[in-house]
Amino acid sequence: MSVPPSNHQPVTVDPHAIQYGVSITRETHDQVMMPTYAPMQMIPARAKGSWLWDTTGKDYLDFAAGIAVSVLGHAHPDLVQVLNDQAQKFWHVSNLMTNEPAIRLAQRLCELTFAEKVFFGNSGGEANEAALKLARRYAFDNHNEKKTEIVAFYNGFHGRTFFTVSVGGQSKYSDGFGPKPGDITHLPFNDVDALRGLFEEKGDQICCVMLEPIQGEGGVNPASRDFVQAIRECCDQYSALMVLDEVQTGVGRSGKMYVYEKLGITPDILTTAKGLGGGFPIAAMLTTDNIAKSLAVGVHGSTFGGNPMACAVANKVLELVTAPGLLSDVERKSQLLVKKLMELGARCDLFSAVRGEGLLLGCELTDKWKDQAREILTACMNEGLMVLVAGPNVIRLAPPINISDEDLKEGIARMERAVEKLANH
Ligand SMILES: Cc1ncc(COP(=O)(O)O)c(C=O)c1O
Repeated sequence: MSVPPSNHQPVTVDPHAIQYGVSITRETHDQVMMPTYAPMQMIPARAKGSWLWDTTGKDYLDFAAGIAVSVLGHAHPDLVQVLNDQAQKFWHVSNLMTNEPAIRLAQRLCELTFAEKVFFGNSGGEANEAALKLARRYAFDNHNEKKTEIVAFYNGFHGRTFFTVSVGGQSKYSDGFGPKPGDITHLPFNDVDALRGLFEEKGDQICCVMLEPIQGEGGVNPASRDFVQAIRECCDQYSALMVLDEVQTGVGRSGKMYVYEKLGITPDILTTAKGLGGGFPIAAMLTTDNIAKSLAVGVHGSTFGGNPMACAVANKVLELVTAPGLLSDVERKSQLLVKKLMELGARCDLFSAVRGEGLLLGCELTDKWKDQAREILTACMNEGLMVLVAGPNVIRLAPPINISDEDLKEGIARMERAVEKLANH
């Protein structure tokens, strides 16, 4: 049985401890925070590797990784070191100046991908906002002002800015905010006929197609190879840009740096965030020299984009993720996890399918557990396992990609106990 690392015994913190002269509890959150989120009752105190401890000292195995962010686990010593080192130098200069960590990171991202130019932001939504603006602006500069149509897909998720929720394929996130940005068409995901039909009807007006190679929030639905190749063909034929949102799938989670490498296509624009900073906020939009010209001086910007602290950490994340042995082991770990999940699924009549790539997996619940993803998540938390959901019928798992086999097995054992308790309840 795997246990939390012994050299990192949890610190027990009294949840009612006086901090900064104020007594902080979970209830304080509701008093002072906007009601935007409904966080769990526990409050994290510290974390190391794949483990996290709350303020009462209870341990949790982290199969959520801060929603697919902490690719290398928590408090990786090399990341802590590089963050400390950069903190001693300078934290922020804005884009009135460039900085070495940002240049190095852009250079490395170009080496690792199809890209020739990089724009830095701070979140996935911000990178996608930039990508959508770039696609519209590129069409305006190179084609005509009527080429504004954006094609996207139902159940897609691209962020929470007004443009990105409007392009995302769940109207519950974009309704109620007044008039939405126009010229956005949503199609069913993986439907090649619908895609080709739309291009035949109005291909000349389409400036870009935006998609996630695996819809993360929308249920962990992988795009089929045929589908992405059809998108590439249609975009080429009608001079539209293919925009790939790899915010959740990127930086090694699939076993490749980016999923497009597995799909036999190259996008025109790619967005990456989450794992890129290993937990430190940073995002990037990648594209070619030619397309990048449309974001000339003054057309777009971000005060914190390219922040040296974030870029220094991201450089180290890329170094560690691409070090020999790590990415090539993700597929093996994935197979181990899928096997254990299928066995558990069969024993408890829990999962009807397990899908995804690498260490981004979605477990579809059987009819017996229909609509109970949230209850299972809570039961797992009670047993000391952090998981995610993707809708009411999918348990989503995104552990750190350097997690040990023992911790993967321990996580499954905790999930089994959680499900048994829930079933007996
Ligand atoms: C595919 C995808 N795109 C964009 C986003 C938005 O990223 P952020 O929350 O960093 O703005 C997310 C977040 O879950 C995502 O999964």
